[in-house]
Amino acid sequence: MRADEPVKVGILISGRGSNMQSLVAAAEQPGAAYQVAIIASDKPDAAGLRWAAEQGIATFALSPKGIGKAAYEAAVDTALREAGVEIIALAGYMRLLSGDFVGRWRGRIVNIHPSLLPLYKGLDTHARAIAAGDAEAGCSVHIVTEELDDGDVLGQARVPILPGDDADALAARVLVEEHRLYPKILTEFVRR
Ligand code: GRF
Repeated sequence: MRADEPVKVGILISGRGSNMQSLVAAAEQPGAAYQVAIIASDKPDAAGLRWAAEQGIATFALSPKGIGKAAYEAAVDTALREAGVEIIALAGYMRLLSGDFVGRWRGRIVNIHPSLLPLYKGLDTHARAIAAGDAEAGCSVHIVTEELDDGDVLGQARVPILPGDDADALAARVLVEEHRLYPKILTEFVRR
């Protein structure tokens, strides 16, 4: 890899892919530090995958159903390596990667999680923050390890929790920050 060449990133998604879109938009800016080499999904009908294909980005879709986790992950690994991927960015990817997969990409997988880690790992982060009476919520970009939503935090953004907020209202406020934070931190990460 030449020093001035954008780092090749593979993005894994499971759903609508709004964070993926923000990562792609940043990669299209002149002088971007990374390029999106491939977008892969465990849900062949993911809306984000259709969008990626429409943009002309290479896509890979495979469901683990029926073939098992090991065969699924081996196929994803092969697709990423054949695309020249150096760094993996999870963006609304809803599966826990195995220790074997994480080990093969040790320190080279990042994720965005909609909470101020280490608070609220897992699902329903916004409802849990509201129920706890927290004054603020946010999102975190972190290194992926074998443990769910664990690993070093690379950056966070915060938003207030306002009176009357429900989980959807808070999720929408946090999502705006996710879209700003993830490209910024990924850019810093690939340049480190
Ligand atoms: C985001 O809130 C992300 O933080 C979480 O799942 C959501 C995915 O949204 N892991 P999108 O697919 O990026 O729109």
